[in-house]
Amino acid sequence: MNFGERNMLRGFRPLAAAWLGGAALLLLNMGATAVDAKREPFGALADGRQVEAVVLSNNAGIRVKIMTLGAAIQALSIPDRSGHAGDVVLGFDSPQEYLQNPSYFGATVGRFANRIAKGHFTLDGKTYTLATNDHGNHLHGGLKGFDKVLWSIDSVKSGSPATAVFSYTSPDGEEGYPGTLRVTASYSLNDAAVLRVEFRATTDKSTIVNISNHSYFNLSAETGASVLSHLLQVNAAKYTPVDVGLIPTGELRAVEGTPFDFRKPTAIGLRVRDGHDQQIRYGRGYDHNFALDGTLGESRLAARVADPSSGRIMEIFTKAPGLQFYSGNFLDATIAGKGGRVYREGDALVLEPQLFPDAPNQKTFPSARLDPGNTYVNTMEYRFSTDKPARPAGVK
Ligand code: GLA
Repeated sequence: MNFGERNMLRGFRPLAAAWLGGAALLLLNMGATAVDAKREPFGALADGRQVEAVVLSNNAGIRVKIMTLGAAIQALSIPDRSGHAGDVVLGFDSPQEYLQNPSYFGATVGRFANRIAKGHFTLDGKTYTLATNDHGNHLHGGLKGFDKVLWSIDSVKSGSPATAVFSYTSPDGEEGYPGTLRVTASYSLNDAAVLRVEFRATTDKSTIVNISNHSYFNLSAETGASVLSHLLQVNAAKYTPVDVGLIPTGELRAVEGTPFDFRKPTAIGLRVRDGHDQQIRYGRGYDHNFALDGTLGESRLAARVADPSSGRIMEIFTKAPGLQFYSGNFLDATIAGKGGRVYREGDALVLEPQLFPDAPNQKTFPSARLDPGNTYVNTMEYRFSTDKPARPAGVK
């Protein structure tokens, strides 16, 4: 049952509503459902620049806060199977901490999410050199990627869905990329517990683009439980193995018989330390791109994550060809996030719908090219539900 269906039950079936939480809730939810969008300040950076946020919240108890720094998801509160809401994403309480400890928490990553080998690529015979920020490779847009810039808020609208549109114009040559890139990041939330994130970009010169969201999820929400017991399903028969620098070799390898086979829901912790597989050693766990099944360009279920302890379930739908699954291997307890909580390996997982890593240098991978006159679009839908409807205490 998703939260939207539960909401309808509350509104239209008094008995079910009473079972779900009593007359007060019924009165609260009898009216037309709506999703609210509000702008609010989110503190200042050390240089004095102000950061703003937009909060989208619905009657099903979902609340998402997106800030102008990195057009990043700063908080995402989702009810568990008992109806108790909890924040399921990692992050910081103040904006400056995001710049001091760059881990891409919740951020929009670009211009090119993931890695480009040695920061080089060739387009129409010309070789471009990008900023290198990851062991000689280019990662997530370089030294000052989309996660580290202030975005503008273009529009904020309540209703179902409620939407917030952020924009950023990346100047020609920024971090070494050709073309002025105009980017929007749209977030929308509806009453059916669907959070939709859509990135769009246009350019004035031929260039490359690959933009994604880098939220670190822990569906148990601040309980201290690791994600290693989360059950993950990824609808991919193949993945892109990498070299020691996490650059794809170009091979599309079958997941069958390997720790990368998530075609059936499997606990992340079951094989995350399986050192028999060299790929697990290279990634220090999972840090790999899956080649999603299904027809390219059609929205399909890419991944499903279920937390048996809280009952929260998240499904990700996308049209993108790839999904990077990163098991938070570089969280090493050296930084404290929201509420002073120290983040350690296994505290979160990242699932990024995107093109394949190093696509500009791999002829067989789907192209990252964007030409003037065309629009780059990458849409991802996060659908939230629980494994059982909420029951008030004492009801069996
Ligand atoms: C990505 C990469 C990881 C790591 C994180 C940020 O998901 O694939 O290797 O760099 O970003 O820490």
